[in-house]
Amino acid sequence: MDALRIRDDFPILRRTVHGKPLIYLDSAATSQKPEVVIDAESDFYRLHNAAAHRGSHALAEEATACYEGARQRIADFVGAPAFELVFTRSATDSINLIAHGFLAATDHARQGRSADRRFVLNPGDSIVITEMEHHANLVPWQELCAKTGATLRWVSVDPSGRLRTEELDELVDASTRLVSWTHASNVLGHVVDPRPFVQAAAKSGAVTILDACQSIPHMPVTLPSLGVDFAVWSAHKMLGPTGIGFLWGRSELLNALPAVDTGGSMIGKVTMQGSTYLDAPARFEPGVPPMAQAVAAAAAVEYLSSVGMSEVFAHVSALASDAAQRLHAIDGVSVLGSPEDAPAIGVSFTVDGIHPHDVGQLLDADGIAVRVGHHCAWPLMQALGVPATVRASFSVYSTADEVAALVDSVMRCQEFFRLRTAGNGSSRTTGQVTSQVTSQVTGTVAT
Ligand code: ALA
Repeated sequence: MDALRIRDDFPILRRTVHGKPLIYLDSAATSQKPEVVIDAESDFYRLHNAAAHRGSHALAEEATACYEGARQRIADFVGAPAFELVFTRSATDSINLIAHGFLAATDHARQGRSADRRFVLNPGDSIVITEMEHHANLVPWQELCAKTGATLRWVSVDPSGRLRTEELDELVDASTRLVSWTHASNVLGHVVDPRPFVQAAAKSGAVTILDACQSIPHMPVTLPSLGVDFAVWSAHKMLGPTGIGFLWGRSELLNALPAVDTGGSMIGKVTMQGSTYLDAPARFEPGVPPMAQAVAAAAAVEYLSSVGMSEVFAHVSALASDAAQRLHAIDGVSVLGSPEDAPAIGVSFTVDGIHPHDVGQLLDADGIAVRVGHHCAWPLMQALGVPATVRASFSVYSTADEVAALVDSVMRCQEFFRLRTAGNGSSRTTGQVTSQVTSQVTGTVAT
């Protein structure tokens, strides 16, 4: 695939930052958008805007066709039927939808109402996740455990960053009702094999959830073939718009999960005495839906498909591996992650004696956008024994020249702080480079 040609499709990549060409290496936080995605969203408003699933006038029918056509296109992309794909606000919202469904089923059971026992949690039951999760796949389960009396267990990460999946044998037992884990680490950038989790969950019939936020944007994924029950991801990390996410689920389970958010569009029949609800996906989509966002997300999927997901993965993983090798070769730079797990979507690193926030600020002065901090994965930072990291992450528009610029900038950053700390007698930085210093750096290091 031709990343240089692809870059022409992304208008934001033509801009400069601090007078330097933008080098955007923060695609794991959110990706940039090609013109076709921006056009798809605005064309919906320009040409078709009306409320989907309501009204029989021409525009309402067009809006419905656009919205449901988008669902079909996105479902096709992950090899699933359209009726198994629910539009949500975000991947985080998708996880919360399932967590709230478990809570509602548990409440129903406690009130003596009918409830699908696969979603009912009692004290003594367990939920199993991993220490590698970002907060979206951790905090909702902490909340659910606090409200139901269930216990949260997790697969630990060793100090090298290896997920100790052998712990699944002990962690997943007859008490386990739910197993949820990441398909690709948003911090370490490698792909996690779902099979040990699926096999472990099968022992107790636990519901399984795959967090595919960092995998589906970068690699071919056929969800129904993975053996999981649910998967979540968002549009904005896969060249699509913000404000829309996805929940895929096996239809039988989706239809057994209580709907928590209620209102128009999700109902079968309504009287003053009560209401019946539609089957999925409508039962989880109350209100006028995010039509323009769905259409733009479908355009993103179309764009990625035209590049080819195998090509996308080959490109992104080659950049990640190149970045890891070149950064590793710099004295004083540590690339995080187990040697067994090749970085595929990005790379996290630390620089001896320089706080990641300071590294990030100096890279920014060179026009390079990286994410610094705990990456919404604080427990993983603790397991790795670091307060924060610098993360460079890639997408279809990233190039080998950008990796080279990153490596050069990191070395200039080391040199800058070597001179600066030699001047003030301190051997560490604190994460508080001032803008004054940054502009000084711009002058000093950007040659
Ligand atoms: N989870 C997103 C990231 O890794 C926000 O940056």
